[in-house]
Amino acid sequence: MTARLWHDQARAKPLIAPPVKAITQLRAMSDSSRTRYLQHRRRWMRSLRFETPAIVQARTTLTDLVEDNAVSTPAAKDVIAVSAPFAVGKSTLVRTWAQDQYRQIIGDRLHHSQMPTWHREVGIVADEIPVVWLDLGAASKVRAFNIQLLQYFGYPISGAIHDLTARIHRILDAHRVRLLVVDDTNLLNLRHQDARDVLDHLKHVNTMLGQRGATMVLVGANLEDGAIFHDPQMAGRLRTISLKACTIDTPVEVATWQSTLAGVERLVLPYLPTAMPGILAGHHAPRVWRLTQGYLGDVARLIADAAYIAAQEDTWTIRTADLERSQLSRRAQAAAPRLRQPVTTRAAQAASVEVHAP
Ligand SMILES: Nc1ncnc2c1ncn2[C@@H]1O[C@H](COP(=O)(O)OP(=O)(O)O)[C@@H](O)[C@H]1O
Ligand SMILES: [Mg+2]
Repeated sequence: MTARLWHDQARAKPLIAPPVKAITQLRAMSDSSRTRYLQHRRRWMRSLRFETPAIVQARTTLTDLVEDNAVSTPAAKDVIAVSAPFAVGKSTLVRTWAQDQYRQIIGDRLHHSQMPTWHREVGIVADEIPVVWLDLGAASKVRAFNIQLLQYFGYPISGAIHDLTARIHRILDAHRVRLLVVDDTNLLNLRHQDARDVLDHLKHVNTMLGQRGATMVLVGANLEDGAIFHDPQMAGRLRTISLKACTIDTPVEVATWQSTLAGVERLVLPYLPTAMPGILAGHHAPRVWRLTQGYLGDVARLIADAAYIAAQEDTWTIRTADLERSQLSRRAQAAAPRLRQPVTTRAAQAASVEVHAP
């Protein structure tokens, strides 16, 4: 990632929703226009981002913690850790939130393709880069971390580690950094003998940021089990946001799952002209859970695929068979058969909860 790419992504428009068409219009389309229409509809459904109460809460917590850091005394600040199992959606959540933060800070300057700037000193103009996003590589150590950071700003990466760190010091001021997000923090090499150095470096970077009222956000898989959480100094500063896939083990969770699917339904029902309201939030809710185990990325894929199969067979709804035939992720494929049994009890629970159809 680079600051330039981040800026371009913040300016990019989301995929436009296809036009809603009545069943008669859909059936009157030529084969080639219907194919194009269906491909657009499938891409759009796959790109949808669904909301759950946990996601909404996580975004609020992130914003609150960043604001607390910005106004508290200049020193080492709280570090935010966003932790979840693989593929739950932590990168998507933090990236979307961080892009919103960037847009708010940059304001009207987002309309320009060139990087926003600010007057650093009289006569000196620098790029304003308030948000930094690092995607760590496998087994990263201090040097790799510094290099990624410098590359984000387009600075030279030659020199000894301490020279690179000194350069980073200057960069944070020069570009008015307010937020540093480190994604895939679980890939930092914390098991190796270099673990101490990596941890010390993270703390040092956090101190540098803290002196400027800026915040570090660490995103990673199952961070609670790793060295960052077990380092006493680090643990004292961590504010943790834990995410998990939706579960349906209690009536409250079942209701949350159903209202999540009701949100999905509000988006996709206009594109399923023969489907009844409640088809996802009620009728298919237990099956969608079994096939996805509550992973929202898998839900998007499942619904897009099932709607595509149904439309190709001219039914324009989502049937049980369409769901069972869709292309599940390997993770979901592996788990779904194991869950065939318990879903019956879960279905009973789901049925006992009132369906809030959109
Ligand atoms: N809220 C959401 N709604 C729909 N799909 C989502 C959502 N969050 C994530 N996804 C999708 O789920 C998949 C995994 O998300 P990602 O953020 O990469 O997970 P993680 O970082 O936890 O491994 C991606 O394909 C992503 O587009
Ligand atoms: Mg990720």
